[in-house]
Amino acid sequence: MLLEVDRVTSGYGDTPILHDISIRVEQDEIVTVIGPNGSGKSTLLKTIFGLIRPAGGTIRFGSIDLTNMGSHRIAKTGVGYVPQLENVFPSLTVIDNLQMGAYNRKGAGGNELVKEVSDIFPVIEVKRNEKAGNLSGGERQMLAIARALVGKPQILLLDEPTASLAPNLVGEILDKLHDIRTMGTSILLVEQNAQKSLQISDRAYVLVMGKKVLEGTANEVLGNEEIGQLYLGKRGKTKRGKTKKG
Ligand SMILES: Nc1ncnc2c1ncn2[C@@H]1O[C@H](COP(=O)(O)OP(=O)(O)OP(=O)(O)O)[C@@H](O)[C@H]1O
Ligand SMILES: [Mg+2]
Repeated sequence: MLLEVDRVTSGYGDTPILHDISIRVEQDEIVTVIGPNGSGKSTLLKTIFGLIRPAGGTIRFGSIDLTNMGSHRIAKTGVGYVPQLENVFPSLTVIDNLQMGAYNRKGAGGNELVKEVSDIFPVIEVKRNEKAGNLSGGERQMLAIARALVGKPQILLLDEPTASLAPNLVGEILDKLHDIRTMGTSILLVEQNAQKSLQISDRAYVLVMGKKVLEGTANEVLGNEEIGQLYLGKRGKTKRGKTKKG
């Protein structure tokens, strides 16, 4: 088992958000957590990455106990994290953003880093000297993922990488996750684009109000009638159409 979250309870101050959550990611898996707004998806990733200390339960990464470790040390164990918001430095160039992500790799030059990620995200090469703040929304998400990748993580925690992107870009970004997996990085993805993320995933969990209500292969979750009505068709469309810009 690569990552194991075992009966974790977590929240902010005295307010519990996650209740008794158990999830796992095996080597070479892409696992998705879907759930409505406010269900605790970001809280889950923050807890795994040590930004929030769990009130109960354990988190293991291979043989390493992450439960009470801070983010800085967790990053060094081989866990990469791309937050939902503010995941690049807008005033820095693309290359400099990559170098920030590779701070643990002494001597890796900017050109080398650009080369490493350009196979997956060719736009990184094209925009290498552009300020990150001048990139489009999709390009910025690609940079944020690339920045995590140059840290050479064994597992990548991705918080809604397609939020507020145009539908054609959603597929483009999610399809890249297969290339990333092929390079040896397993993925725990949190998504609002439930249908598309399930299509590229191996297994999935459904979180509602901080509780795990369903788990299974991605196909099982896709085929679940109740989940289909609640989170796939109806919710996906209204959220996209009403609240998000392209
Ligand atoms: N810093 C915080 N302090 C207090 N409560 C918070 C904080 N961040 C989030 N919450 C609350 O925790 C709950 C879960 O939030 P979280 O961001 O984990 O949900 P989410 O599933 O990621 O939602 P979304 O799909 O909108 O990103 C919400 O009720 C939210 O209001
Ligand atoms: Mg979130």
